[in-house]
Amino acid sequence: MLRQAAGCERLGSALYAGLLRHAADDLLAGGPVAAVLRGHLSDPGRSALSLRMLGGVHALVLTGRAEELAAFYPSVGGKADAARAWPAFRRVLAEHGDEVSAWLDRPPQTNEIGRGAALAGALCYLLDEADLPVRLVEVGPSAGLNLRADRFFLTGAAAKFGDPSSPVRMPGAWQGTPPPVRPVRVTWRTGGDLAPVDPTSAQGRLLLTAYVWPDQADRLDRLRGAYELAERVPADLRAEPASATIARVSLEPGMWTVLWHSVFRQYLDQGESAAVDAGTAALAAAASDSARFAHVTLEPVPHAQDFPVEVITWPGGARRVLGSAPPHGVPVTWVR
Ligand SMILES: C[S@@+](CC[C@H](N)C(=O)[O-])C[C@H]1O[C@@H](n2cnc3c(N)ncnc32)[C@H](O)[C@@H]1O
Repeated sequence: MLRQAAGCERLGSALYAGLLRHAADDLLAGGPVAAVLRGHLSDPGRSALSLRMLGGVHALVLTGRAEELAAFYPSVGGKADAARAWPAFRRVLAEHGDEVSAWLDRPPQTNEIGRGAALAGALCYLLDEADLPVRLVEVGPSAGLNLRADRFFLTGAAAKFGDPSSPVRMPGAWQGTPPPVRPVRVTWRTGGDLAPVDPTSAQGRLLLTAYVWPDQADRLDRLRGAYELAERVPADLRAEPASATIARVSLEPGMWTVLWHSVFRQYLDQGESAAVDAGTAALAAAASDSARFAHVTLEPVPHAQDFPVEVITWPGGARRVLGSAPPHGVPVTWVR
């Protein structure tokens, strides 16, 4: 819990950092935190138990059932203040413990719109190589919101990308040497996730919003803008393992087929990982000067806080690191 508090501090949520420090004391003292987490304390660290609990409480705030605490949650118009929020947070756990406990059984489900800034730039590089329409395929897309990255509006490094009237706006999203900006034509958007979230449903939106840290206004704005975009721009999002998504895709002449994923690889078991690699290799082998294939990724690497933006293109298999981005995606620092 204290490690997660430090993580929240580093990534810009003073509210959650403060609440988790109080919660750690309450856990040791056998208070409501201990009661809610009972039965889960030996869950592995990577299950992010603290974030599950925080998500459950945030859902109560977002649905108007924790009014006293809402006064300290900027996501619903409150003013962040961890010290003053803590007594109200503790009372929510004491009064709605069962509801919060229900959130402990599922992994946090997020869809980080900022990561779409890396995809948008990578698409510009692809079009610089061959100016063709794009078929976008995402594995592990969660709600598939980044399948609309071409419709975001991004600025930074003296560049402007996308639609200035987009509900997803990211000022300062790019820095360094910006990508060669081009109009991107996406003709197909498809993705497969083991636990897809419908971004057009109230339930899906509550789930995704609840896991965003309430004092991170930019992340929330991006997410809410992406909900709006999802209503206008449909995407084919299926419940299936990544290997099945890749297996149902084939390349098309006169098009780029782009396989993209972000913060997804770490969840694959050995068998699925091998199947994803084999499917990707089969698509790569089928590529030609007309039917082009690209693999674009934003994935964590050991011992680095930022994630590389990588692209491999076929025919040829040229691999390039285009830049890097922090865990929530922006700003992307482009290096070429
Ligand atoms: C951390 S989330 C990242 C979501 C999204 N890529 C983003 O960056 O916002 C990881 C996603 O991978 C999905 N996932 C995990 N294993 C998968 C698999 N074998 N096949 C498809 N999706 C998978 C999860 O359900 C989850 O939606």
